[in-house]
Amino acid sequence: MSRAGVFISFEGIDGAGKSTHIESLAAAFTAQGRAVTLTREPGGTPLAEKLRAMVLNDAMDPLTEALLIFAARRDHLLQVIEPALARGDVVLCDRFTDATFAYQGGGRGFDGPTLHTLEQWVQATPAVQPGVRQPDLTLWFDLPPETAAQRLAGARVPDRFEAQPVEFFQRVADGYAARARAAPQRFARIDASRSRHEVWQQITATLVRRGWLSIMVSAQSGPR
Ligand code: TMP
Repeated sequence: MSRAGVFISFEGIDGAGKSTHIESLAAAFTAQGRAVTLTREPGGTPLAEKLRAMVLNDAMDPLTEALLIFAARRDHLLQVIEPALARGDVVLCDRFTDATFAYQGGGRGFDGPTLHTLEQWVQATPAVQPGVRQPDLTLWFDLPPETAAQRLAGARVPDRFEAQPVEFFQRVADGYAARARAAPQRFARIDASRSRHEVWQQITATLVRRGWLSIMVSAQSGPR
């Protein structure tokens, strides 16, 4: 099994069920003797968590929202993700830039070329020459927005995104599908409408195929 740093992001509309699987995957990698950095966006550093609270709760125009999210990402990338990858950690990141293309680009209808420019600026790091940092793998939890809405109904007080109507999440889902089409080697589509156990099997099969998870550890692990 490889010991180089691995960057895995988790994506999908709200209610797609990423969270329990991220925790289980962290446990599986730890059982395999890997150091794991478990983190999230927007957030992951003290500064980025402050920006997250603003983005999720305060009214603002779409450009301000996009700039704050990318500012949080820059801090997170330099303070947490790049050092972890340099140490050889497995970085499990709950959302990354595909969420910006899906939510700000698809959901809000914000200008795609501007997001692309911000992506190029923010994700250029000395460790990636030439080019920009992207996840090695993106696990995309794909679920019909109507199903996600049923799962979320009454779960908690909704933030600015969770409070959006189902049409918004259809545009977000379309945004994810477009990103997946543009980077098919990086994306693995997970059918998130299946049972928790079947979703876990899809995830571990993907990681075993890539040589990052041993088949033995994957068989012994999973969400409780
Ligand atoms: P979470 O609830 O999965 O932690 O995500 C927080 C919310 O932030 C979620 O509704 C999606 C949204 N979001 C964006 O709108 N753009 C982004 O770039 C990211 C990372 C998250």
